[in-house]
Amino acid sequence: MRLLLPETSDRVNLFELYSREVKVPADRPFVRVNMVSTLDGAVAFSGRAGSLGGPGDRLLFSVLRSLADVVLVGAGTARVERYGPAKIPLEAQDIRRQRGLAPLPTMAVVTLSGALDWGSRLFTGGGPRPIVIAAGDTRSEALAGAVDVADVVRTGTGAVDLSSALKALGERGVNHVLCEGGPTLNTGLAAAQLVDELCLTLSPKLAGGVGGGLAGGWLRSNDPLVGPGRSFGGQPLAQLVELDLAHVVEEDNFLFLRLRARYSGGPPSS
Ligand SMILES: NC(=O)c1ccc[n+]([C@@H]2O[C@H](COP(=O)([O-])OP(=O)(O)OC[C@H]3O[C@@H](n4cnc5c(N)ncnc54)[C@H](OP(=O)(O)O)[C@@H]3O)[C@@H](O)[C@H]2O)c1
Repeated sequence: MRLLLPETSDRVNLFELYSREVKVPADRPFVRVNMVSTLDGAVAFSGRAGSLGGPGDRLLFSVLRSLADVVLVGAGTARVERYGPAKIPLEAQDIRRQRGLAPLPTMAVVTLSGALDWGSRLFTGGGPRPIVIAAGDTRSEALAGAVDVADVVRTGTGAVDLSSALKALGERGVNHVLCEGGPTLNTGLAAAQLVDELCLTLSPKLAGGVGGGLAGGWLRSNDPLVGPGRSFGGQPLAQLVELDLAHVVEEDNFLFLRLRARYSGGPPSS
């Protein structure tokens, strides 16, 4: 791996680089979104993200998990990518212990329907007790199986209120949230100005499809008619989110961008 920006270096310590300038807001945890995308904007191929990545991307994925208190995902991603507990290397677990953190980050899943498999690896595979973040009007029957295997946080009506969900995580001592998507959850966070940082891996691949076009913006991510979705899917944002480039790392034609969101004026769009 080599650092291209802000300075050049052939030696990159990802732990050190991604620990730099992590600023935790006063009223909620820091939120970092990590996504991998093809050059034409696809975040999945044949419905899954795995084929887009490479060794460097997988290393970064693990490093970012090692730095987080909570790994947050939307239920769509948890289902499609068959999520389990967030595993990280033993050395990283030791470093976390030395820093006074739990050895493993906690998994948290956002759902409206509550349609999750409570017997799946995510909930029964060991590791810290996961957190299910549901809406106030998510059917209680749907969550009946959750209470045995997870802590349940409920907030919002018709959708999870992501702002108060993050505050609730903050009240549990969470300072650093790594959101691993997917596109619907990412847009919900961005619309509420809750994305502090975007780590975007640009994969040197093309996937085709029209998911990045005008039609795709209005349709659900991953609709087979429109091809794979983009990093931020679902409904278009009411206003553009601007980001500043913090650094660029390169390996094997993959570009690893780290960007910080810059929100200007006005209350969140939703
Ligand atoms: N390339 C990458 O880095 C990457 C990363 C992640 C995912 N992906 C890909 O993205 C695709 C999945 O996209 P997606 O948009 O469906 O993923 P998603 O955002 O993980 O899942 C959407 C679901 O999450 C829940 N959700 C999200 N925001 C919510 C909110 N504010 N309130 C309540 N529930 C909320 C809902 O779950 P319920 O349906 O349970 O109500 C919603 O249907 C997959 O193909 C996956 O491979 C790619």
